[in-house]
Amino acid sequence: MAQSKLPSGKNQHSGIMNIEKIRCEFPFFKNNPNVIYFDNAATTQKPKIVLEKINDYYTNQCYNVNRGKYKPANDLSLEIDRSRQKICDFINANKVEEVHFINGASSVANDLSILLSGVFLKPLDEVLLCKSDHKSTVSPWIHVLDTMKEKECKIVPILLSPSGDYDENDLYQKLSNKTKVVILTHIHNVHGMEMNIQEIIKKVREKTNAKIIVDATQSIAHTKVDVQEIDADALYFSGHKMFAQTGIGILWMKEETNQELLQYFCYDNQNPHQLFEKGTPNISGILSLGCATDFITMLGIEKIEQYLLELTTYLINNLKKIESVEFDSGPAVCSCKEGYGIVSFKVDGYHVSEIAEALSFQNIFVRADTQCSYNERNSYLRVSLQIYNTKEEIDRFIKAITQIIEWSV
Ligand SMILES: Cc1ncc(COP(=O)(O)O)c(C=O)c1O
Repeated sequence: MAQSKLPSGKNQHSGIMNIEKIRCEFPFFKNNPNVIYFDNAATTQKPKIVLEKINDYYTNQCYNVNRGKYKPANDLSLEIDRSRQKICDFINANKVEEVHFINGASSVANDLSILLSGVFLKPLDEVLLCKSDHKSTVSPWIHVLDTMKEKECKIVPILLSPSGDYDENDLYQKLSNKTKVVILTHIHNVHGMEMNIQEIIKKVREKTNAKIIVDATQSIAHTKVDVQEIDADALYFSGHKMFAQTGIGILWMKEETNQELLQYFCYDNQNPHQLFEKGTPNISGILSLGCATDFITMLGIEKIEQYLLELTTYLINNLKKIESVEFDSGPAVCSCKEGYGIVSFKVDGYHVSEIAEALSFQNIFVRADTQCSYNERNSYLRVSLQIYNTKEEIDRFIKAITQIIEWSV
């Protein structure tokens, strides 16, 4: 079982980073010394810098923004602007006008389906999306197209290859002048596969005028997300998956797409954020997101990526030693040299919830169900790692699984 302090040995200092030092930045681990937290794709733990900022806002500077005529409220408004600038730099956006504060991935996916279908879909048009992606990207489009049946627009499914990435040949064949919206996920939430989005987007642009939306919710704290390189029309993520508070996220949207939407809904173009930011914002959330961005920048996203690859490889190699483990798609079954800490598998002869419950008795927390898939799909156990997890924890996890199997034979 995990202890409060990491035992000395191979895991304290990865060649890449001082993990023990990083772990100390997260009070959760001090307060839950026995927990092995392997459910980071659901939400991440929060570093002190984020917690202190939230506390500071509510205890020392609790004002509203963009309206006060007194100095502390004005200062706070400027701090909100600085958070926006930090995120703008973090994702390499062209300008802050393209960066909108939102509640989170699911709510903005829903908003986008309503807005884009109203503005861009003509009769018989098509929306390309993958029904194995997170249900928050799939179900809004199913519902919204249902409400406009008279237009006879349809969803054209993007398929997955056996390794878990998009079947590109199939996707390219499905593009036509009817394709008006294409929705892609950057890193898959179930099996952790990184999709070839940059290449796909280039091809989509060559063949169509479709609006392209990218769900970067699982990639934002795992790898560099550069919106100019990716070149979608909209890209979004939730803050709580990148060490910030819940209830805050970011929608990046190309200025011209935002302008098209503003014009359609008869807004003046004075305030580019009018569509997505109404009324009092989630102030502590925005401040926490600014701090979380600082935190990732301080660690270095490339180093996070490198360390997570090291952990993922270690986890997969050790799971492969257990005969009855069957992997879902993703880095464990494909020949790629990637891994962003997300690995799904099941154990032959066991229901995943039996294993998850047995692990939970040992304070090891993993996900075990269909993991927010829209499709009926098999249940898997999902381990999702972050920067504070260690090889030592993986050893204990492997030992626990091995024991669960041995003891129940
Ligand atoms: C890929 C992906 N998209 C969207 C979401 C939804 O995020 P939220 O629950 O923060 O809205 C998740 C959450 O797990 C996710 O993994």
